[in-house]
Amino acid sequence: MQEEQDVELEARLADQERFEPPESFVEQANVADGSVYEEFEEEWPGCWTQAADLLDWDEEYDTVLDDSNPPFYEWFTGGSLNASANCLDRHLDERGDEAAIEWVGEPTDEDNRTFTYEELHREVNEFAAALRELGVGEDDVVTMYMPMVPELPIAMLACARIGAPHSVVFAGFSADALATRMNAADSEHLVTTDGYYRRGDHLEHKAKADEGLAGVDHEVSDVVVVDRLGDAYDHPMADNHHAYGDLVAEQAGAAVEPVSRDAEDMLFLMYTSGTTGQPKGVKHTTGGYLSWAAWTSQSVLDIKPEDTYFCSADIGWITGHSYIVYGPLALGTTTMMYEGTPDYPEKDRLWDIVEEYEADQLYTAPTAIRAFMKWGTEYPDSHDLSSLRLLGTVGEPINPRAWKWYYKHIGGEDCPVVDTWWQTETGGMMVTTLPGVKDMKPGSAGPPLPGLDVQVVDTNGDEVEPGEAGYLTAQKPWPGMLRTLYNNDERYISEYWEEYSDTDSDDPDDWVYFPEDGAKVDEDGYITVLGRVDDVINVSGHRLGTMEIESAIVGVEGVAEAAVVGGDHEMKGEAVYAYVITEDGQEGDAAFEEEIVAAVEDAIGPIARPEAVVFTPELPKTRSGKIMRRLLEDIANEEDLGDTSTLRNPDVVEDIEAKVRDD
Ligand code: WTA
Repeated sequence: MQEEQDVELEARLADQERFEPPESFVEQANVADGSVYEEFEEEWPGCWTQAADLLDWDEEYDTVLDDSNPPFYEWFTGGSLNASANCLDRHLDERGDEAAIEWVGEPTDEDNRTFTYEELHREVNEFAAALRELGVGEDDVVTMYMPMVPELPIAMLACARIGAPHSVVFAGFSADALATRMNAADSEHLVTTDGYYRRGDHLEHKAKADEGLAGVDHEVSDVVVVDRLGDAYDHPMADNHHAYGDLVAEQAGAAVEPVSRDAEDMLFLMYTSGTTGQPKGVKHTTGGYLSWAAWTSQSVLDIKPEDTYFCSADIGWITGHSYIVYGPLALGTTTMMYEGTPDYPEKDRLWDIVEEYEADQLYTAPTAIRAFMKWGTEYPDSHDLSSLRLLGTVGEPINPRAWKWYYKHIGGEDCPVVDTWWQTETGGMMVTTLPGVKDMKPGSAGPPLPGLDVQVVDTNGDEVEPGEAGYLTAQKPWPGMLRTLYNNDERYISEYWEEYSDTDSDDPDDWVYFPEDGAKVDEDGYITVLGRVDDVINVSGHRLGTMEIESAIVGVEGVAEAAVVGGDHEMKGEAVYAYVITEDGQEGDAAFEEEIVAAVEDAIGPIARPEAVVFTPELPKTRSGKIMRRLLEDIANEEDLGDTSTLRNPDVVEDIEAKVRDD
């Protein structure tokens, strides 16, 4: 049955390279007039008042863009606002009784919670009061090490309310990763939870949090623990550990006046992987970021207040920050959160949720779509998905086959699909089709959004011809951009700007942002993103630094040297391949492989688990001693290795290749 359907789909859609937005969508789209591209170009940077106008400001800004000190751009300067007031208070009159968050727990259909705007507002106020009581002041970084429980967005908004930046650490990261991030941010407060549910089991998260806390090298004044597991898990509470439930109960009915923040004041930090072993603390601000999240949610995701919008990402990553919490709530819509995995209890869980809650939009990752395809159409087919109006993808390239499957089997050929390219650093979407305006081309993210000058360039910084591969760049700043790397302006410049900018110049035209992605562009200006060109790999849409993994591996006793690369993987997009040289006397056997894998899980988390560990006597190196990573990638991908004669040790390549094939 499924095969027949696939054949039919293949035949009808396979050759189609262009899809018009469905008429029914265009008729109601938030943005349906294509003149917006020209208008924004002409009015730049003034066009961005349209994004800022989506927010309520305490104090109007006097300058849209201050570009006097590139690349330290400032947006909406002179203005002030509060993010939590924008996401909650201003909706109370009209939408107080409407759902702000629909939370779905993993275990059963009954394990769910609805927060109206009124209720969310109340609990955010209570927790904000509790944080204050614990001594959290303006600009103190509060770390959250939390899974998908409603208290995570509540804690984020409570921080925003009192002007304390949050730093959310993905719950799937290891204890070490938590400690590294708390140390880097000098964060003295942690909000965590006892645990959560995954594929029917409960995970004892608090133990991991405690282990992480032991690695923090300054004093942590308070730890707040949300009770998710009840009696299922009994864990010790130290003197400075507080039950979340007690804290908010003590503050019942508290009202906390939202702190007026300057537009450029920090809203949050998010640590992300880069080319070195040390994660980068990406700094986002209140005015620019929130405007960007709101404007892109409105124009790309087509969110309206009466929608029920479902993004299946985790709030521990930037997608959840911008497109579960800040963008949707700023627009006053109903945003959904799901605690668990899409295959529990059955492989139709997402479709079950979409049907039950009548979701209008679904925003997910290509890696999930590849899994849905593999599981088969019977799962979505057994549900009524007709409430869906728009589909989106993010995090990695989506191949045309997966795109078409999504379009047909989830969208019923009736929903536009937006393939959105962006990064932690960009704050929100950058390259994608405006769904009510532009045709879609499967496999290509689309043109840059209006008001952006995104170009694909060669190594000299000159624009490449259509069809040629080059490097993605942003030639002009935008409101949602990162402002710097926390406490590290130098690294901000060297990571993102040095490559294509004249760093001695004060002229903003001489500054070019480089996101470290390869791309190509077609005759219509549609951009196809090819993937990272640095040592960052993308496993199931999760960004991991190869250097971080390597440093975990060389930390294992008995390892002399290691190189980690990303190899193509059918389901994950990319998978981690580790090439390891052992010290003399250390056997490269299955037990040692296990030890290495465990070390990676300890240092980073299960997502970084190597797909294969290949023991080798040598690594392919250039004559100057640099490891040839590309070659190792090609070996992992079984690609033609070309000329290896420039290597210092060409024979080793054959050895490694033979070993990979054996595994
Ligand atoms: C990749 C996630 C192709 C890209 C929002 C980028 C994509 C990195 C797409 C950022 C897309 C994201 N097509 N590649 N639509 N979206 N990427 O910071 O390599 O976790 O640089 O942000 O994901 O990952 P990050």
